[in-house]
Amino acid sequence: MKVMIIKAFGGADVFEAAEIATPEPGANELLVRIKATSVNPVDYQTRRGDYQDLMTLPAVLGSDVSGVVEKIGSAVAEFAAGDEVYYMPELLQGSGSYAQYHVADKSIVARKPANLSHVEAASMPLVGVTVWDCLMIRGQLQAGESVLIHAGAGGIGSFAIQLAKAMGAYVFTTCSARNIDLPKSLGADRVIDYHKEDYAQVIHQETAGAGVDLVLDTIGGDTIERSFTILRPSGRLISIVDISQPQNLLAAWDKNVTLHLVFATPYGAKLDRLRELIERGQIRPVIDSVLPLTEVAEAHKKLEQGGVRGKIVLEN
Ligand SMILES: NC(=O)c1ccc[n+]([C@@H]2O[C@H](COP(=O)([O-])OP(=O)(O)OC[C@H]3O[C@@H](n4cnc5c(N)ncnc54)[C@H](OP(=O)(O)O)[C@@H]3O)[C@@H](O)[C@H]2O)c1
Repeated sequence: MKVMIIKAFGGADVFEAAEIATPEPGANELLVRIKATSVNPVDYQTRRGDYQDLMTLPAVLGSDVSGVVEKIGSAVAEFAAGDEVYYMPELLQGSGSYAQYHVADKSIVARKPANLSHVEAASMPLVGVTVWDCLMIRGQLQAGESVLIHAGAGGIGSFAIQLAKAMGAYVFTTCSARNIDLPKSLGADRVIDYHKEDYAQVIHQETAGAGVDLVLDTIGGDTIERSFTILRPSGRLISIVDISQPQNLLAAWDKNVTLHLVFATPYGAKLDRLRELIERGQIRPVIDSVLPLTEVAEAHKKLEQGGVRGKIVLEN
C-alpha cells in the first residue's frame, strides 16, 4: 500500500512517499481503505520529535480515519466489508492514517455519520473523541452551565463549542479578531478577541464575579492558573495540553476546584454518540482546507504556523 512515511524526526520535509506491505487484520480487527484523514497538532509534535522516546522509526503518522471496511477478522460480527466507518487510531503507534489502508481493533471503530462525506467525517474523530472525554466524561457538563473554551477557532475549540451548545451550556470562547465569525456561527454566546481583551476580566465582569462552571484549556502557558480565577466554587478545569510551565494553584484551593488532565483515548462508542448529534445537525464539520495526502508536508507547515480555522483534511 502507499503511505507517507517518516524515517527521521524533523521538519515537515521528512515525509516520503513509500510502498509498504498492506497489513492483515487479526481476529478482532478490521482492514479499512482510507478515503480521507486529517492533520492534528499531535502529528507535527510527533514528527518533530516531541515524543521520540515513545516511538520507533520508520513511522506512519496520522490520527483520523474515514473510510470503507475492506476485510474483517474472524471474530468481528459488528462490521462487514463495504461498511463506511470513521475513527481515531491509537496514538503514537507508528502505524497511523497517512496511508491507503489501516488496521484497527473493532472497539475503536464506529459507523460514519450518514450525512457526511468522507472528507467531512475525517475532520472529526480525534477532536470529537477528545472533546467528548473533556466535556462529557470528565467535565460532566450539564444544561444551563457556563463554560469557557479557549481557542474557539481551532480544531478542538470549534468542535467543543458545538458540543457544549448541544448540551445546553452558555459558551464563552477566545480567538483572534480575524476568526470571530467562526465561533459565532457555531453558536458561541460570547467571543473574546484574546489579543484585545483579557478573558479573565471579561468573564469576571459579565458573570458579576460569579465565574464559569467549566474551563477547557487548549493553550498551555499560564492558562490553568489564570483560568482558576474565573471558575465558580466547585468548578472543573480540564486541560489537554502537556504543560511544562509551573502553575500556581492557590486560586483553586478555597474554591474546591477539580483539575482534570486529559489524554484522549479512542473508543468507538463515543463516536456512536457523536454520530447522533452530527446526523441531527447539532455538530457540523469545520474544514479549513482539503489537500491530497501526498501534500501532507504542506498541511503540517500550515497547521504548525497557526491561523487555521477548524481542520485541514487530507484526501486519498
Ligand atoms: N490531550 C489530548 O488528548 C489532546 C487532544 C487533541 C489536542 N490536544 C492539544 O490541544 C491543543 C489544541 O489543539 P487543536 O487541534 O485545537 O489545535 P489547532 O487547530 O492548531 O488550534 C489552535 C488554536 O489556538 C488558537 N490560539 C493560539 N494562541 C491562543 C491564545 N493565547 N488564546 C486563545 N487561542 C489561541 C489559535 O486561534 P487564532 O488563530 O484565532 O489565534 C488556533 O485556532 C494542541 O496543543 C494539541 O496538541 C491534546
